[in-house]
Amino acid sequence: MIAGREPLRRLKEDTADLHQQAEVHVRILDADATLTDYRHYLAAMLGYHESVEELLAAHEGLRAVGFDAPRRRKSPMLAADLGALGEDPRAVPRCGALPRATSLARALGVAYVIEGSTLGGRYILAKLPPPLAALRGQATAFLAGYGAETGAYWRAFAAIVASAVVTPADEAEAVAGARETFERLIGWLAPRTRAAGALWREAS
Ligand code: HEM
Repeated sequence: MIAGREPLRRLKEDTADLHQQAEVHVRILDADATLTDYRHYLAAMLGYHESVEELLAAHEGLRAVGFDAPRRRKSPMLAADLGALGEDPRAVPRCGALPRATSLARALGVAYVIEGSTLGGRYILAKLPPPLAALRGQATAFLAGYGAETGAYWRAFAAIVASAVVTPADEAEAVAGARETFERLIGWLAPRTRAAGALWREAS
């Protein structure tokens, strides 16, 4: 068995339902997705990522096991994308309802959601529908993520998980952290997506 495979596989399997739910609130792959949908997506993701990144950066345990939170920040990419679309990233509301990172394993579960999404980001980038495809390379830094380094970043993360998530209790904690991270994200995205309809559009 490859070291690190088991806890990561468990994280994937035990959050698959929530990944599916999160996808419902990301409307930028719809055939009729608009620039407004994309702006809302970037703004909502910035509001969540920046807050979660601060939480991860402040976590001593994560630092001790080699998780380089500052280097892994993706909120600057989101801010750059919004800036490229003429938006002021500083005006975006930040999420205050965050997952708890009360243990190292739990913090790694939180980080799993944020880091794993870089794998999906590249997929989304490749599949952008015609109305958004012209943004590629102009306002898609977040979706591109770590770019060609994505595999290397993911393997480094997998090694950290393998070293720190060892017992069944650790695994359960990591899954709890990951599930809460997805749930909080879904709660944050839901009223900010197209699925919420005209209200959000009128208010924005
Ligand atoms: C339309 C929206 C989305 C699509 C189409 C999508 C698609 C994907 C795909 C194709 C993968 C697998 C990539 C690979 O294994 O190389 C993936 C992985 C992942 N995505 Fe998403 N994703 C979406 C939204 C999200 C969101 C909003 C989050 C949370 C921030 C997220 C978190 C993850 C995680 C944690 C993984 C890693 C799964 C694992 O291998 O353990 N995704 N996504």
